Amino acid sequence: MEKSRRQQRLAFILLFGLWLPCCFTQTTPSNSATPTPTPSPSPSPQPRTEKLKVRLAGYPRKHNEGRIELFYKGEWGTICDDDFSLANANVLCRQLGFVSATGWTHSAKYGKGQGKIWLDNVLCGGGEKSIELCKSRGWGNSDCTHDEDAGVVCKDERIPGFVDSNVIDAHVDENKIEEVRLRPVVAMAKKKLPITEGVVEVKYKDGWAQICDIGWTIKNTRVVCGMLGFPHERKVNKNFYKRLKKRAAEKLPRPKVNVSAGGRLYLERQKNYFHIHSVACLGTEVHLAACPLEFSKANATSACTGGMPAVVSCMPGPLFMQNSGLKKKLKISSNVRLKGGSRVGEGRVEVLKDNEWGTVCDDRWNLQSASVVCRELGFGSAKEALTGGRLGQGMGPIYMNEVKCVGQERSIWNCPFKNITSEDCHHMEDAAVRCNIPYMGLENTIRIVGGRSSYEGRVEVQVGSKWGTVCSTGWTTKEAMVVCRQLGLGYSMHAVTETWYWDSSNVTEMVMSGVKCTGSEMSLSQCQHHKTVSCQKAAAKFAAGVICSETASDLVLNASLVQQTVYIEDRPLHMLYCAAEEDCLSKSAAKANWPYGHRRLLRFSSQIHNIGRADFKPKAGRHSWVWHACHGHYHSMDIFTHYDLLNANGTKVAEGHKASFCLEDTDCQEGVSKRYECANFGDQGITVGCWDLYRHDIDCQWIDITDVKPGNYILQIVINPNYEVAESDFTNNAMKCNCKYDGHRIWLHNCHIGDAFSEEAERRFEKYPGQLNNRIS
Ligand SMILES: *[C@@H]1O[C@H](CO)[C@@H](O)[C@H](O)[C@H]1NC(C)=O
Ligand SMILES: *[C@@H]1O[C@H](CO)[C@@H](O)[C@H](O)[C@H]1NC(C)=O
Ligand SMILES: *[C@@H]1O[C@H](CO)[C@@H](O)[C@H](O)[C@H]1NC(C)=O
Ligand SMILES: *[C@@H]1O[C@H](CO)[C@@H](O)[C@H](O)[C@H]1NC(C)=O
Ligand SMILES: *[C@@H]1O[C@H](CO)[C@@H](O)[C@H](O)[C@H]1NC(C)=O
Ligand SMILES: *[C@@H]1O[C@H](CO)[C@@H](O)[C@H](O)[C@H]1NC(C)=O
Repeated sequence: MEKSRRQQRLAFILLFGLWLPCCFTQTTPSNSATPTPTPSPSPSPQPRTEKLKVRLAGYPRKHNEGRIELFYKGEWGTICDDDFSLANANVLCRQLGFVSATGWTHSAKYGKGQGKIWLDNVLCGGGEKSIELCKSRGWGNSDCTHDEDAGVVCKDERIPGFVDSNVIDAHVDENKIEEVRLRPVVAMAKKKLPITEGVVEVKYKDGWAQICDIGWTIKNTRVVCGMLGFPHERKVNKNFYKRLKKRAAEKLPRPKVNVSAGGRLYLERQKNYFHIHSVACLGTEVHLAACPLEFSKANATSACTGGMPAVVSCMPGPLFMQNSGLKKKLKISSNVRLKGGSRVGEGRVEVLKDNEWGTVCDDRWNLQSASVVCRELGFGSAKEALTGGRLGQGMGPIYMNEVKCVGQERSIWNCPFKNITSEDCHHMEDAAVRCNIPYMGLENTIRIVGGRSSYEGRVEVQVGSKWGTVCSTGWTTKEAMVVCRQLGLGYSMHAVTETWYWDSSNVTEMVMSGVKCTGSEMSLSQCQHHKTVSCQKAAAKFAAGVICSETASDLVLNASLVQQTVYIEDRPLHMLYCAAEEDCLSKSAAKANWPYGHRRLLRFSSQIHNIGRADFKPKAGRHSWVWHACHGHYHSMDIFTHYDLLNANGTKVAEGHKASFCLEDTDCQEGVSKRYECANFGDQGITVGCWDLYRHDIDCQWIDITDVKPGNYILQIVINPNYEVAESDFTNNAMKCNCKYDGHRIWLHNCHIGDAFSEEAERRFEKYPGQLNNRIS
């Protein structure tokens, strides 16, 4: 984990904050028997009603450990390690959104901070809501140097519902701008989502305000558009708005165009209070509050003499565009992508180099760089720049580190960065983003009812003005994935086809049937369905349902291990009785002259990693697992993998066994402990950060190629092929290799996971037969 140039102080750091509840009584034990440390601490400062920001800083910081820094009186500072305790760390970790602390560090373990040492001799009981409520010498009163800066190590488990507010930079909360919205001026525009043009309104503590447009620049527009989920800004038709303004001023009749509520507000300008003026963004800010701007003290209209409310126009990314003609023109980046996110516009950042996808290491990863990624993918600016593999770890190469975008670059590839390899960084440090996306109102046309929690229930959709259920015939994980995405509830854990056991007191009529999705749609209405409702089953009993989850597993096969371990074995039939019983041989084996002769087997090892954010567990409960006496273990899934040999036109020429799996943690990456064990009817599954290894020499770990002629083929392995168990990403479940068989020996080349290559390289790969040396890169 040691990296070079660790001493570099970070300009942009994971930044958390929280609202401190305004009033609670301080529990100061009187006549405490505990020996008081020297110098004796004074009572803690009074809790303020303002936000106290806490963040982790320094090197080698992780998302859950680092030097503690506090933002007080407009300045970041540190805490001295004198008298520091686990109780202090517990309070700080909870303020950062973690459930508890596992340790703390002294003597500037994460490097020395700068500026103030805000607190010293801090003595928390452990249950305080904020570090401010603990005893200390008082703000800024310390005899320490930065050599004594304290740090914390938090348990890597988030407090449910805790919202990171590393959105905004430190100086932001002084301005107290919270949110931005557009009020469309033309009535028609109101119905069409997303709203891309209108009067800018800013939410601050007293409500919504408009901005005076004097000195307003396109750079300001860019920041506003970014916050609203749009990658690009457009010029507005100023004349249109000038005419509106003129008419309003001269009390002329309404213009011919219909104006909406926002438009009327705009026209009745005398009622508008311009609380904000002189906005001067650079265009690289991720939030308007990070731009220089001024608040008007009074409700003065005069603050904007000669001006009018700022109006912006934004260009949505292709995903959010109604006009399909424009959609084709706007191309999103083809050498950057997001993987493993539970929502649209979030995920691990992956970049394409030499036709192969790889990840970005998180050193110096910040909102400016994250925004460049978001915008080039057709989203707005970044809401969060996540470090420490928070949205799951990648498997392939690691290409970049210390990415330092200014914010104006068209692509992350145009930003300064360091070339690195997997030697210098680990996937534990994969960078990720959460982008601002436009409001589409998709969640308003679907709902789930009757479930035991807000994450599950019978699906109801709105067709016309009527809400009703969906027929569960053909209802699979793919359709359920779309529902969970549309509701903003993450991944689908289960596609439920019988929902009668949920609260069925108010089952509505069935209004949709024959739903068929590809799995990538943003709403159920984008999927195919019958024109008229036709469902063979009873609506009440067999309405479709979902169980959604914020996290899911993600299984990936180690492709290089398959390539390295492949060989052919001619195995005598007398050693294959058990395998035959388990259906691990091809059909022609039945006609063999048992026990004489042999079968030709293509053998290799499979190592299946769980790189997701939840454990992989078989769908069926253990009561329905099947005992396989021959191999002496239970099988928990009917079909866990497909092993196939395909010819050039994709036809199967041989297939491997399907059932013989008993899931367990064979081994885990550093710091993760094994939890699942196959033996003795143990719990089956694969823990996040662990893998299940099937060695080449175990029974049934093969493809029977006795009947296969020499030639060029593709070896394909697919894990969880029927989407039986939820995963965050199904595109990486297939692994393919070019395979050359000369009748005696076998060679594998270009083994890779389904989504690891560029499209161009994948096409070249598919054309393999005949050209052995098309190695990638
Ligand atoms: C104004 O809106 C009404 C109803 O919404 C519509 O009938 C009318 O044609 C619109 N007028 C113009 C000028 O767009
Ligand atoms: C705004 O200013 C006007 C006159 O300048 C005054 O009459 C009014 O009360 C003020 N409103 C508020 C909310 O301060
Ligand atoms: C990174 O490596 C590529 C070649 O793989 C080279 O073209 C590029 O200049 C290098 N960039 C940096 C910043 O070292
Ligand atoms: C659901 O049914 C109950 C009675 O079973 C009724 O009181 C309630 O209004 C119904 N709710 C809806 C949304 O129809
Ligand atoms: C995959 O297998 C190769 C070859 O045995 C090994 O070197 C590598 O560490 C494995 N990859 C992972 C992520 O475990
Ligand atoms: C695929 O190729 C095989 C020979 O390699 C041929 O027998 C078969 O008819 C082909 N199938 C299709 C659908 O083209």
